[in-house]
Amino acid sequence: MKKFYLTTAIDYANGHPHIGHAYEKILADVICRTKRLLGYDVHFLTGLDEHGQKVEQTAKDRGISPQMLCDSVAKEFIDMCALLHISYDDYIRTTQPRHRVIVRDILQKLFDKGDIYKAEYTGFYSTRVERFLHEKDKVNGVWPESEFGQINEITEINYFFKLNPHKQWLVDYITTHENFIFPKFRAKQVLEFLKEDINDLCISRPKNRLSWGIELPFDSTYVTYVWFDALINYISAVYFGTEKFSEFWPVDYHVVGKDILVPAHAIYWPIMLHALDLPMPKTLLAHGWWLCSGEKMSKSVGNVIDPLDYAKQFGTDAFRYFVLREMAVGQDSDFSHELFVSRYNNDLGNDLGNLVSRSSHMLQRYCGGIIPKIMTLESPENEVVNLWSTIRNKVLEAYDRLQFHSALESIFIFIGAINKFLEVRAPWKLAKSDHPKDQERLHTALAVCSEAIRLTATILMPVLPTVSQKILEIFQIKMVSWENQLDWSKECLVNRSLAVKSIILFPKIA
Ligand code: ME8
Ligand code: MG
Repeated sequence: MKKFYLTTAIDYANGHPHIGHAYEKILADVICRTKRLLGYDVHFLTGLDEHGQKVEQTAKDRGISPQMLCDSVAKEFIDMCALLHISYDDYIRTTQPRHRVIVRDILQKLFDKGDIYKAEYTGFYSTRVERFLHEKDKVNGVWPESEFGQINEITEINYFFKLNPHKQWLVDYITTHENFIFPKFRAKQVLEFLKEDINDLCISRPKNRLSWGIELPFDSTYVTYVWFDALINYISAVYFGTEKFSEFWPVDYHVVGKDILVPAHAIYWPIMLHALDLPMPKTLLAHGWWLCSGEKMSKSVGNVIDPLDYAKQFGTDAFRYFVLREMAVGQDSDFSHELFVSRYNNDLGNDLGNLVSRSSHMLQRYCGGIIPKIMTLESPENEVVNLWSTIRNKVLEAYDRLQFHSALESIFIFIGAINKFLEVRAPWKLAKSDHPKDQERLHTALAVCSEAIRLTATILMPVLPTVSQKILEIFQIKMVSWENQLDWSKECLVNRSLAVKSIILFPKIA
């Protein structure tokens, strides 16, 4: 079986889950479900980033230990994943011993090789982003307060990880591996960053300033920088240092938001791996941001969307559908309640939901709840059958290229065509005719419609796992792989009896 390994960013333990976290996990989940249905052996990793100054500070403000804070935040994020039906295989928390041991091993290894050195450094430090700032971070000559918060000049002895010796190698690597960064336009931004000298990465924090971290193995008066620790989760979770590691590495996708592509994932991480003589990730997938009326969601603006509210109120699948239908992977999107309601009522309620309920209703009424045989296909039926073969290929290709919004658009074109087919065939009129040919037409039309619905549910499975399953259950079908399941079949449903009398998949939002 072909292996497929995918990771998401590990969420910071100093906040609550919001739509950005939810979206990223849904996007990752849909990719993984698609691969599983295609027969891959998938390993899907997500988790929580628990160290650092902000976590320490928040815990202190609340009068609890950092570990207690992390445990309660972990529960919130894990609950979010459960609610959103995120099919992860492993959830890593950076306070776990399996992670700590490997971070320390790696620090020691790089220290022994001479990639890490000690030096005194004076610079401007931002607590908000927990690092020293560089000239590069300035916008119009100043470090924007909105991004960096309060900045203090400090002099400190710290440990540094050498970046510059790997710079040219990284430039060459990015230039010669066009699938390394997705979407492609982001590679430019990374190369831009690499044009000038890059500062070595300060990978330590003195314990008297921050103690909530992983202790350096070669100096117990320091802990390591939260990003150095966090990135390593991608390999510590898959048995780095043992033979098993090669079953997973290199990873197929690191799914992350665009704000953490540069420098963390596209500069620090490849260089860390290169220094360790490890192969590069196959693709860094940088998704865009969810905005509210064009602004980044933020607690201070008070426009944070609680994904859990939407999923709880309107159903997990509806929420999954909305975020994937609205956002072209890599671009930003605006979340609006009005748009959500409109997609829900129109696409899911009127187009898909009604199709399923009216078809099952007609099958009960005109066929005694048993799917009839497909007899002669006439031109309306042929149109549906032919359209399917085009749509199917388009959708699979779009899934493969991560164009979920256009895959869904195509699927809903097909759903629209089935609805139109029913209008043209008008089974309710055929049912009134005594002509034997019309009885045959009636049965064939409803059988073709059932098969079209089966195929729709099958191809929608990665995005709408629960609803698709419910639809297939109407026909008493259990589907675990796409093998042979996406081909138009004359026989697949014949003589099956419907498991339900009526079904409302998406009750209208008033
Ligand atoms: O960055 N829209 O954690 P995090 C879309 N711990 N995505 C968003 C978003 C938004 N409005 N806001 C955040 C961290 N994200 C680090 C990662 S990985 C080794 C360490 C995305 O909780 C963000 O881009 O701040 C990131 O990929 C993820 O949510 C977690 O963000
Ligand atoms: Mg963030």
